[in-house]
Amino acid sequence: MENLYPTFDKMLPREAKESLLKQKGIVVWLYGLSGSGKSTLANLLERKLHEEGRFVKVLDGDNVRSGLNNNLGFSDEDREENIRRVAEVAKLFAEGGIITLTSFITPVERLRQNAREIIGSEDLLEVYVKASFEACAERDPKGLYEKVKAGEVKNFTGKDSSFQEPENPDLIIDTEAQTEEESLQTLYSVVAGRIQPD
Ligand code: ADX
Repeated sequence: MENLYPTFDKMLPREAKESLLKQKGIVVWLYGLSGSGKSTLANLLERKLHEEGRFVKVLDGDNVRSGLNNNLGFSDEDREENIRRVAEVAKLFAEGGIITLTSFITPVERLRQNAREIIGSEDLLEVYVKASFEACAERDPKGLYEKVKAGEVKNFTGKDSSFQEPENPDLIIDTEAQTEEESLQTLYSVVAGRIQPD
């Protein structure tokens, strides 16, 4: 951090972007097991908000790991760096007034706490997209759980890499108990309450 002179005070303020976009920036942090429905919900919510004239960006694990984070794997350290970078990017977006939907497993409390510290609680909605390992394995949208069974995936979340149930999420979306449409409605109504301009 030596010899760096950030000049945030000279930049056009966040409020100027938010008033242009007629919305408040926020990070909706969706987390849960692979196959729990995070990306599906993020994409559905993005479309719904977009149709209403909102400006939204989705940051998705598989996509970001193919670009910005393509030097990271699935060790504990790499997951931590993955989440740190995504939280920093999401924070920049939210400060630009953008409704930012992130879709990352974020498997343990420490990583969720890191994201919270970077983004700040007032700009963050933490959403646990809940489905059991068995249900996700049954859905297996990417054929990954099948590969895990065959022993072809190392450090898989929920198997040989840990997944902690969250202690205090802002919202739980139970995709095993609800239909896709119900989950979307629940999520939408909470997010809609946080993005209204003053
Ligand atoms: S996180 O743990 O660092 O938050 P992230 O959400 O970015 O994970 O990436 C998870 C996605 O990577 C999964 O949806 C899956 O498609 C893919 N993946 C590949 N290998 C693994 C693995 N060992 N564990 C979990 N997901 C994996």
